[in-house]
Amino acid sequence: MPTAYSTPNIALIKYWGNRSNPFRLPAADSLSMTLDSPGIRVRVELSDRFRIQSFDTGGREKLQSMKSIGRLRLHFDLTKHYLETLGRERDLPKNVSIRIDSSIPPAIGIASSAALFSALAEAYAAFVKGTPLSRQELSIIARLGSGSAARSVFGGFVTLENIPGDGIDSTVSRQIAPPNHWILHDVIIVPSQEEKKVGSTEGHAMAHTSPLFEARVKTIPRRMRECIEAIEKKDFEKLQCVSEEDALDMHRVMETQNPPLKYLSEETHRIIQEIESLQKKEKLEVLYTLDAGPTVHLLCTEPSLKAVQEFAESQKNCTLFKAKIGRGSYIQ
Ligand code: PMV
Repeated sequence: MPTAYSTPNIALIKYWGNRSNPFRLPAADSLSMTLDSPGIRVRVELSDRFRIQSFDTGGREKLQSMKSIGRLRLHFDLTKHYLETLGRERDLPKNVSIRIDSSIPPAIGIASSAALFSALAEAYAAFVKGTPLSRQELSIIARLGSGSAARSVFGGFVTLENIPGDGIDSTVSRQIAPPNHWILHDVIIVPSQEEKKVGSTEGHAMAHTSPLFEARVKTIPRRMRECIEAIEKKDFEKLQCVSEEDALDMHRVMETQNPPLKYLSEETHRIIQEIESLQKKEKLEVLYTLDAGPTVHLLCTEPSLKAVQEFAESQKNCTLFKAKIGRGSYIQ
């Protein structure tokens, strides 16, 4: 009866668009920092039928939509299919009952799906007897539910990299630096908790319709190199340059794809402008980044944390989360 725990990650070089949809094989590589909170716990048990129960922070049961049950069921079936390719499907039960305890509000730009599917990968892998699956194999299982989830299987700074081919195992995650390499914080400002109308699964599938998509894919290898170098050398300025450039570029693609996806709100733009003037005035080591929602992530170093927190706390009508670099998914 495995119980697993996992957390979101925040991408510095974003994953947007797939080269093949059924297996969620990304069009380009991406890179993120795993967060230490908020988290999701999942418990998976043998069952006579596929069942999901989900609870929020207050222990209240949340009704699951048919769409989200379908996504979890498909992920379970794809996991079985992947384990078959390894000749290791026998130990995974025919059907499971999944209990999810989440402290992450869904669909607001904090990657709840990354935490959920990495925790599920961890729990499913725990059924496999004999030699444990490798972390890379776990990252493949996580990716089958949500591309970015593959990165939460590792702690610290993590890439999601394409390898040649279009097979189920043709994209894997890799840790490039452990959490203690560089203690960075993420101060998360949520201007609106309204659930977004179009999720990233649908968004990825249409990314190629943007006239800017091809150019974005071509630029990613250069951005990946710069980002990895910045992390290795702990060069904050370089990290800021490349990650802010990439976040804005991803939103330009989103906004020009068909149908267009406008995830950023007026509040998001105002917060970005204010943080840009603070960066200049106080020479703070802080960068902003944005996922598929109006939420602003402010990544900063230890010495800049107090000022960044004060800035975040001064924002009216916003919900705040504070996290730092984390260890990734594990069995409890
Ligand atoms: O893993 P998904 O399908 O939820 O896609 C995540 C996409 C972004 O959060 C926008 C970017 C990323 O790399 O995390």
